[in-house]
Amino acid sequence: MKIVRAKDYKDMSRKAANIISAQIIMKANCVLGLATGSTPIGAYEQLVEWYNKGDLDFSEVTTINLDEYKGISRDNDQSYYYFMNEKLFDRVNINKKNTYLPDGMEPDSEIACRKYNDIIHSIGGVDLQLLGLGHNGHIGFNEPGIAFEKETHCVNLSSRTIKANMRFFADEKDVPRQAYTMGIKTIMSAHKILVVVSGEDKAEILKNAFFGPITPSVPASVLQLHNDVTVVADEAALKELDA
Ligand code: F6R
Repeated sequence: MKIVRAKDYKDMSRKAANIISAQIIMKANCVLGLATGSTPIGAYEQLVEWYNKGDLDFSEVTTINLDEYKGISRDNDQSYYYFMNEKLFDRVNINKKNTYLPDGMEPDSEIACRKYNDIIHSIGGVDLQLLGLGHNGHIGFNEPGIAFEKETHCVNLSSRTIKANMRFFADEKDVPRQAYTMGIKTIMSAHKILVVVSGEDKAEILKNAFFGPITPSVPASVLQLHNDVTVVADEAALKELDA
């Protein structure tokens, strides 16, 4: 595992965007595994800026996202579909037909997960998987548990995650309780993994995840077993490691 130190959020975003753009330049038709949440927003903004300058071409890129809320329609501004279009897909020359997210409006979890697994298998492997890190160590929506779930599955979000998501919804009752997420086996199958971490509130979990025991109670800890993981973290998030 490589830890890349960034000064602050802006620096972290730029460094992460550099790694993503290097992947696109090295392999124009690469498959990017993408994440939502607040941490990658700056990296997406940077990619858009470089695209506008003519430095990046997304025309052959395929993307596959980690997760989507269950029961939220694609035109809801809290859906991850909406997020990805707003932050990246609508702003670059990607072919939308090559961008995938789980279908949050499929009420039958078994069908939704099977369909997403089929897509994952058909696109033939992720070159670079971008991940954020949840406060409880979740990656995608693989919440702490007693086992690592392998492929796409429906999860009941933990009370901590629901609370963290509350800031985006007008009313607590509107916060989704379930989500479809890629499994740990799929995430671990990516050739390269890039984790972005920012802020002091992530310092403790960053230390536990990457230097603590490997356990499903801290899902991100499994990344210690992957042989090409780069963590780009800012100084605030690295505080516990420096202590
Ligand atoms: C998002 C996702 C989540 C987030 C995590 C961190 O697609 O799968 O695992 O990466 O919750 O979220 P932020 O970046 O908002 O702290």
